[in-house]
Amino acid sequence: MDTYNYRVVQQFAIMTIVWGVVGMLVGVFIAAQLAWPALNFDIPWLTFGRLRPLHTNAVVFAFGGSALFATSYYVVQRTCHARLFSDKLAAFTFWGWQVVIVSAAISLPLGYTTTKEYAELEWPIDVLLTVVWVVYAVVFFGTVARRKIRHIYVANWFFGGFILTVALLHVVNSLAMPVSFMKSYSVFAGVQDAMVQWWYGHNAVGFFLTAGFLGIMYYFIPKQANRPVYSYRLSVVHFWALIFTYIWAGPHHLHYTALPDWAQSVGMVFSLVLLAPSWGGMINGIMTLSGAWEKLRTDPILKFLIVSVSFYGMSTFEGPMMAIKTVNALSHYTDWTIGHVHSGALGWVGMISIGAMYYLIPRLCNREIYSVRLIEIHFWVATIGIVLYITAMWVSGVMQGLMWRAVNDDGTLTYSFVQSVQAMHPYYIVRLAGGLFYLTGMLIMAYNIARTVAGATVINAAIPAPAR
Ligand code: HEM
Ligand code: HEM
Repeated sequence: MDTYNYRVVQQFAIMTIVWGVVGMLVGVFIAAQLAWPALNFDIPWLTFGRLRPLHTNAVVFAFGGSALFATSYYVVQRTCHARLFSDKLAAFTFWGWQVVIVSAAISLPLGYTTTKEYAELEWPIDVLLTVVWVVYAVVFFGTVARRKIRHIYVANWFFGGFILTVALLHVVNSLAMPVSFMKSYSVFAGVQDAMVQWWYGHNAVGFFLTAGFLGIMYYFIPKQANRPVYSYRLSVVHFWALIFTYIWAGPHHLHYTALPDWAQSVGMVFSLVLLAPSWGGMINGIMTLSGAWEKLRTDPILKFLIVSVSFYGMSTFEGPMMAIKTVNALSHYTDWTIGHVHSGALGWVGMISIGAMYYLIPRLCNREIYSVRLIEIHFWVATIGIVLYITAMWVSGVMQGLMWRAVNDDGTLTYSFVQSVQAMHPYYIVRLAGGLFYLTGMLIMAYNIARTVAGATVINAAIPAPAR
């Protein structure tokens, strides 16, 4: 009897929770450092500058990345009625990805960095990452090629788009000349370097933190709600419009810099256009529940999934607004950006991954979840955490921006920089509280899942026989 490979899915799913807890713990710690800087204890490895990239790498690539590996491997098998292309290569991607993460966790606190945001890892780790990613592409597309179902379900288009684009972004942006074992210099210089970096950085958001997670949305929401996707046609338009538009929007990270003005304007216009496909997708996800809204009252997994898509809508409205040059003049360099990031990261990426893991993990070993009540508690604790985090950052961010630009009648600045830092202090404590709530939710999840899988083994489900 032919079966699916659930083992590698389970491995990635469990590591999603482990890395989620680790990455968010570091997030909580650096949030506390921003409120009380003495918490670096004068130890170089614990300084904010080294731990911040550890946080971003851990949450984006370790937590988010593991969730994407787990779900894409599960979805591609289930929707293609085919076992993964190669069990050995799939296992290689699991162990390879863990080695990349552990290398990041060691090298970043030691101070090794390329200084490019979200691409900080030095060249030997980058090379390993490239190999793992190429093998991932082989496993994913190899499975699609072996499919028994003619049609390629839309979630696979999103996963496929994400895998191909991330490969391209990573390779181009990481091109560098090594000068020693852990030191290299980018092949790009000056403003070209900045442009390539933010072409990468923005599309890391667009493809890593968005397209892949939309793949999750298109599979897990219909499954959990037991309804077909609201409009399949819209999902296909959504895919093409989104990937075409995203790739041009990077320059909105470089407003009022040495980048030519026209390039900044192109970035701004494409960011505004991006609102349309983003909201088309958001509406498609939420409307999948039409006729089944009452399920939201009783099903906490669905709550995670639907609230996540609502946050997706919120951050993809906010993003285009922040891309308008005059708005960016206020928001750039302030906590407003951090608020935007975390409404996307905690709200969209975090909530959809959590919902998908609650769906996935018990099924892989044919068990019921240990406690539905704990999922419900997790949902509310996480939601309160997000609200505290992002409202604190919005207020703090707008306040910072306004304080920095306030001038007296004689043209002198109304506030010194230090006054703005003092004013931010209470909001940093509120953000820390929000982070603690969110992290507590993750710990509740870890307990619930540990009780669910304790003593269980993964049971590879049978692949349905082809219809005659
Ligand atoms: C407990 C939860 C979390 C806490 C307390 C937290 C805290 C923080 C803090 C304090 C910063 C630095 C802000 C600054 O430099 O002013 C930060 C940055 C960042 N975090 Fe988190 N974080 C959490 C979860 C997450 C998650 C789940 C993700 C992604 C999936 C994420 C992605 C990021 C990114 C991308 C940045 C860099 C933002 C930028 O450069 O503009 N965080 N986080
Ligand atoms: C239509 C969609 C979106 C647009 C047009 C957009 C636009 C923007 C803009 C204008 C900034 C500020 C750039 C600056 O002043 O430096 C920004 C920052 C950021 N956004 Fe978005 N955003 C969108 C969606 C999202 C989503 C869904 C997420 C997360 C899942 C996200 C994550 C980020 C991150 C991580 C940054 C900080 C980058 C950095 O400086 O390190 N964005 N975005």
